[in-house]
Amino acid sequence: MQRQLSLEMVRVTEAAAIAAAQWIGRGLKNEADEAATSAMRSMFLSVPIQGKVVIGEGEMDEAPMLYIGEHVGNGIGENTDIAVDPVEGTELVAKGLNGALAVMAIAEEGQLLHAPDMYMEKLAMGPALRGQLNLDDPLEVTLNKAAHILGKALSELTVSILDRDRHAEHLRILRKAGVRIKLLDAGDVAGAMAPAFLETGIDLYVGSGGAPEGVLAAAALHCLGGEIQGRLMPMTEQELQRCYDMQITDPHQRLLMEDMIGHGDVIFAATGITQGDFVGGVRFLAGDQAETHSIVMRAKTRTIRYLRSIHYMPGKPQPDAYLGQVI
Ligand code: FBP
Repeated sequence: MQRQLSLEMVRVTEAAAIAAAQWIGRGLKNEADEAATSAMRSMFLSVPIQGKVVIGEGEMDEAPMLYIGEHVGNGIGENTDIAVDPVEGTELVAKGLNGALAVMAIAEEGQLLHAPDMYMEKLAMGPALRGQLNLDDPLEVTLNKAAHILGKALSELTVSILDRDRHAEHLRILRKAGVRIKLLDAGDVAGAMAPAFLETGIDLYVGSGGAPEGVLAAAALHCLGGEIQGRLMPMTEQELQRCYDMQITDPHQRLLMEDMIGHGDVIFAATGITQGDFVGGVRFLAGDQAETHSIVMRAKTRTIRYLRSIHYMPGKPQPDAYLGQVI
């Protein structure tokens, strides 16, 4: 894939983040999502690709924009698979909490898993643990292996997981092992990416989150030299059928990186909506400007770029409306 696409992708996630940021702290997560989706879709019109959304806002009959199967891009350029999440962490935006991102990944056509909208059990790690852990192992075994490889005591290991009732058993095992736990309110793309950033202090990400988010995290971790393994968790006949409809023949198989993102090149971009572990949030500045912080990475070269951008937007937004974001 052409490397120039990296900057084009950042434009797309920046547009989504700025649109979503106008809804920070307003308790209206759907409005934030709609604004970001619409901004993202408009920005796609100028991107030189023939893209097809394989992970998006839902099925064609459920989502008016960026639905699965929608063609995006200006129609000139490479055929690519597109995975988007205009607001990853809609609740975080609605509640004015840290950690919300606008994210997208692109890959060569046919590379990305068409992950159905259901839960996926996940195990994510940074480069130091890549290739050495197995989602099929009991969690106790994984913790011991990770601690041993990293040369840490279990008490020095930090594991991140979504704070959900369904994780009661995971939490019991983690507490019994004596590891530190970082509980997340939401946002498991960022959660799964965190072990690949030394500065976060997170060693492992475990537990279940959205399957589409799992594929986005796989794209990011591929660029970061980390790894995620997953297993879909169809809970109803309907969800099982959805797996088959998406050509997933064994819905219970352990999914490795290549099953989720293929073997080709991948580009991943994310812009912070609210403040996060590795990118800052949108800030609306005086003078009709907004500042964004993004990360964009390409698997082929493993280059990681951080971009701070100042956007001039005459006439919008209205800075006095935003929670603690105004300077
Ligand atoms: P949304 O942005 O769609 O609200 O997703 C937030 C999120 O936390 C994801 O990061 C995660 O994969 C999923 O929700 C977990 O779902 P649940 O909140 O049902 O545990």
